[in-house]
Amino acid sequence: MREVHVLLKNRGKIDPKNAQEYAENGGFEALRKALSMSGAEIIEEVKKSGLRGRGGAGFPTYRKMEFTAGAADPVRYIVCNADEGEPGTNKDRILLSTDPCAIFEGMAIAGLAVGAHVGYIYLRAEYTYIFPVMQAALLHAESLGYLGKNMMGSGYDFEIKFRSGAGAYVCGEETALFESIEGKRGEPRFRPPCPSIHGLFGKPTMLNNVETLANLAPIIKNGAEWYRTLGTEGSPGTKLFTVCGNVVRRGVFEFPMGVNLKDIIYEVCGGIQDGHKLLGVQTGGTSGAIINADQIDMTLDIDSVSASGGRLGCGTILVIDDRNCIVDIVLNNLDFFRGESCGKCTPCREGGQQLYNLVNRIATGHGAIQDLEKIDELAETMRLTALCGLGHSTAVPVQTSIQNFRGAYLKHIDRDYCPVCSEGGGIYR
Ligand SMILES: Cc1cc2nc3c(=O)[nH]c(=O)nc-3n(C[C@H](O)[C@H](O)[C@H](O)COP(=O)(O)O)c2cc1C
Ligand code: SF4
Repeated sequence: MREVHVLLKNRGKIDPKNAQEYAENGGFEALRKALSMSGAEIIEEVKKSGLRGRGGAGFPTYRKMEFTAGAADPVRYIVCNADEGEPGTNKDRILLSTDPCAIFEGMAIAGLAVGAHVGYIYLRAEYTYIFPVMQAALLHAESLGYLGKNMMGSGYDFEIKFRSGAGAYVCGEETALFESIEGKRGEPRFRPPCPSIHGLFGKPTMLNNVETLANLAPIIKNGAEWYRTLGTEGSPGTKLFTVCGNVVRRGVFEFPMGVNLKDIIYEVCGGIQDGHKLLGVQTGGTSGAIINADQIDMTLDIDSVSASGGRLGCGTILVIDDRNCIVDIVLNNLDFFRGESCGKCTPCREGGQQLYNLVNRIATGHGAIQDLEKIDELAETMRLTALCGLGHSTAVPVQTSIQNFRGAYLKHIDRDYCPVCSEGGGIYR
């Protein structure tokens, strides 16, 4: 099974700091084309392409463009969400560090589409080491006249600024990210109003994930029709998948949407390490569903994964082998969420801790069968009443793992022997 490189085509082939090399490999052609189009024409092309956000929710990108372009306030912003706080996820890092000009070009195209002249890149705190590479690339592109003031002699200015996070997972949530850029404590805002109308500094803002923005130049350059030859009807294009955990070959891979999960694990990543057996897979990051080994013959696109009760999310695939205990892994997930809860709303602040307590009781052999019902009730309350996606999805791994690994929970409740917990193993610790 071969990868299809649309977004990764320059990885390792050009000097990421050198905007001229980027241009010589077809870079900035899309921006040149976009400069000859109206904003409405750019949005129409993105609409026809069917591009959906790669940051987690799969929201149609053209709709964000339409909302922002249609806002009354003439001062608008483009924000690139490069927070990539999802544990085990590296796909944006690869794009940021190997092909930054592709992201700048996408941001400038988005700016033209919605009438914005300033874009911010919000860089994950742990990625500040990439900043010098990105800054050098930006300065080079500006010195060559591709970006910045009067882009390519068009009379259109588009300035890109960098801001760094401080290590909070919640700051990847778009409104918390705005607060953070504004110098405030990173907490999600109440909605409405939506960010397209009242976003950064209270202005209409189009915020997208790094990978989403990197798709804009190929779409404008090659056209929506070409883009739709890749992927599926509902999720066109390619997707970056970060595969981590117990496979032989881990890394970031690019495939058309609709690729099969089992093929990724066994054909691309060489199967399970050291002859061990597959236990399960968590798709979509720490807040994703945990499925068992019998369920991995699954199509990976936004709608198929949602239909099966999970979410494609940012495309992270955590492969778990039989050296691990699912209850222990879920406990670890919950430990992460209770620590990252910003505390603004009660369902998440208190609920996350209570979920942890319940699963911890089970994991340590002190649980009761009624705890499984309590977990379900609490999870539903959090899903319905928490303020942001962190609280909504904290319980997804617990709930799905209880469905798909009920036997493991019952064993812990019955205090049957669990070789992993007894040995204190697990892939996280
Ligand atoms: C707790 C939390 C953390 C998030 N972290 C990220 C992140 O690191 N990167 C990202 O692109 N989106 C993240 N998101 C999703 C963003 O809020 C937003 O939906 C996304 O960046 C939109 O971009 P897209 O339309 O291109 O997918 C996070 C959401 C939540 C609730
Ligand atoms: S759901 Fe959690 S992270 Fe989100 S606002 Fe509420 S307390 Fe903060």
